[in-house]
Amino acid sequence: MICYLINADVYFPVYIFLSAQKGEIVGIRIKGTGRYIPEKILSNDDLEKMVDTSDEWIVTRTGIKERHIAADDETTSDMAAKAAKAALENAGITADMIDLIIVSTVTPDHAFPSTAALVQKKIGAGKCPCFDQEAACSGLLYAFNTAYGLMASPLAYKRVLVIGAEKMTSLVDWTDRSTCVLFGDAAAAFVLENDGNPETEDYYVAGEVGADGEWADILRVPAGGTAMPPSHETVDAKLHYLKMGGPKTFHMAVLSMTNACRAVLEKSGTDVQDVTWAVPHQANRRIIDAVAERLGIPEKVYLNVDRYGNTSSASIGICLDELNRSGKLKRGDLVLAASFGAGLTWAAMLIRW
Ligand code: UT7
Repeated sequence: MICYLINADVYFPVYIFLSAQKGEIVGIRIKGTGRYIPEKILSNDDLEKMVDTSDEWIVTRTGIKERHIAADDETTSDMAAKAAKAALENAGITADMIDLIIVSTVTPDHAFPSTAALVQKKIGAGKCPCFDQEAACSGLLYAFNTAYGLMASPLAYKRVLVIGAEKMTSLVDWTDRSTCVLFGDAAAAFVLENDGNPETEDYYVAGEVGADGEWADILRVPAGGTAMPPSHETVDAKLHYLKMGGPKTFHMAVLSMTNACRAVLEKSGTDVQDVTWAVPHQANRRIIDAVAERLGIPEKVYLNVDRYGNTSSASIGICLDELNRSGKLKRGDLVLAASFGAGLTWAAMLIRW
């Protein structure tokens, strides 16, 4: 079973392929990609001045050298809108041609309205449906899955904007060295298009999504929701910040991403050696290496965790946009993307570029 939160301003019928099985060929392509990376860089040297840590510890344990930090007045929807504009330009279409906007985020501008609705206004899209989807770091792949289901359903959305956007630093306790070195801010966006041509080969080869609520406590923000509404006490106790059981999360990440990748390869009958690029969630270089080793494809892994840290649901999107814009992805290439996150959630998707 898959679990996630959908935050929509207006309820509308949602048809989701819960099993994420590929149905009949519908000809949906990734038509454009975009990213937005905030200007300000926070290096490991900078962090050494803030907490008891070292560049050596951070690089050895995580592979992260620097991360980008959004400006104080820069919101998740600001970043999402900039990434969306880049994706629209890359796709060669205008915002009014979009039929649906899905934003994956754990750092929405507000509890409501949805960040997707704010993006709609900022990019000048029409009155299309908009909602946020929350599956933590697995959110972007969950959103791809949802978008595919909605486009292939009787609703038949033609062009969908899928965005992963996070201001993770808004959840970071800058006095907690075990978490503050890990995260960064960014957004990535995709235009998916069903061109109506039965000859068009689908981008979606196979997908696997899952969750295990038994592990909900190992990565969470304790306060701010209905379980612990915000108060002076919760703020004083820093309960509105992200808390993580690092080693357990590490272990579950390796396990769940490896299993999800294997499931996708098996479902689609794909030999792992036919994969052109493996694009794992960029949380920790050691997690990525462990998964790549188990799958037997270390040389195919795309890495940028050194430059951005963990940007949650933006992370795989940034990788795909970098690959696309640098010409490292050719039509027909097979991309194996995989992620895990709070929930715990996990997801993998095999994409035909
Ligand atoms: O998208 C999902 C989000 N989460 C993740 O992907 C994170 C998964 N977990 C990890 O990446 C790793 O567990 C961490 C990088 C968070 C931690 O690495 P670790 O090798 O599991 O270290 P640890 O938590 O077992 O801590 C080892 C030591 C501890 O000191 P003692 O108790 O051995 O004296 C920590 O206090 O390292 C210490 N430590 C640090 N030292 C210097 C923890 N953070 C730091 C730090 N600088 N920033």
